[in-house]
Amino acid sequence: MDIEAQKKAAAHAALDYIEDGMKVGLGTGSTANYFIDALGERVKQGLNVICVPTSIASEERARNLGIPLSTLDETPELDVTVDGADEILEGPLVLIKGGGGALTREKIVAASSKKMVVIADASKAMTAEAFGKFPLPVEILPFGAGATILKMRRAIEKLGMSGDLVIRQKDGENFITDNGGLIVDCHLGHITQPEKLAGKLRRIPGVVEQGLFVGIASVALVATEDGVQTLEKTT
Ligand code: A5P
Repeated sequence: MDIEAQKKAAAHAALDYIEDGMKVGLGTGSTANYFIDALGERVKQGLNVICVPTSIASEERARNLGIPLSTLDETPELDVTVDGADEILEGPLVLIKGGGGALTREKIVAASSKKMVVIADASKAMTAEAFGKFPLPVEILPFGAGATILKMRRAIEKLGMSGDLVIRQKDGENFITDNGGLIVDCHLGHITQPEKLAGKLRRIPGVVEQGLFVGIASVALVATEDGVQTLEKTT
């Protein structure tokens, strides 16, 4: 199975977690798109669900497929959210998310769900030794960005980590999130203390949200050459 086939296989496996009448959070990104497409097919066949998307892009995709949509204002508690990840730490199922810049809405929606099901290809599953290669995305307010980034760098260094902190660019300009924020990609190389790092970054004024998801995901469906493996949260 190539990477795209793996993403699709994981996305289709997540349909097993969807029951008629459920309220479902829809993730963002290429793997989540496969899930939205597959769910759209089920809706056409008569499945009754109501969904809350985590980005404008996912909202548009779901709407075009005829998936009934809601918001967290109308539907503040969801049964399950299905979303991708940039890295998954095997065991505690800590995630790095935000490669697509949607981490804040993704975290709000996942935290409003009884269960978060992560879908991914095999390249995303990491041991503790390898976790943190993907640059950690952090959403910040544009106001005072330089001061916020300086505080982020100091917090990271206090935990014995270091690396470049770069404001994400798109087409030669700052990438702007659906919330009007900037994304700072923290190139740390290895994240040794994800929970402590999450706590420190979260407390910095100007930080809207950071891309480490700690204690939120309960199961990860990881597609490999040999099929889809179910990773349960173990620690
Ligand atoms: C979006 O902001 C991200 O959190 C995505 O879920 C993550 O980047 C995974 O995306 P892919 O499925 O495209 O790899």
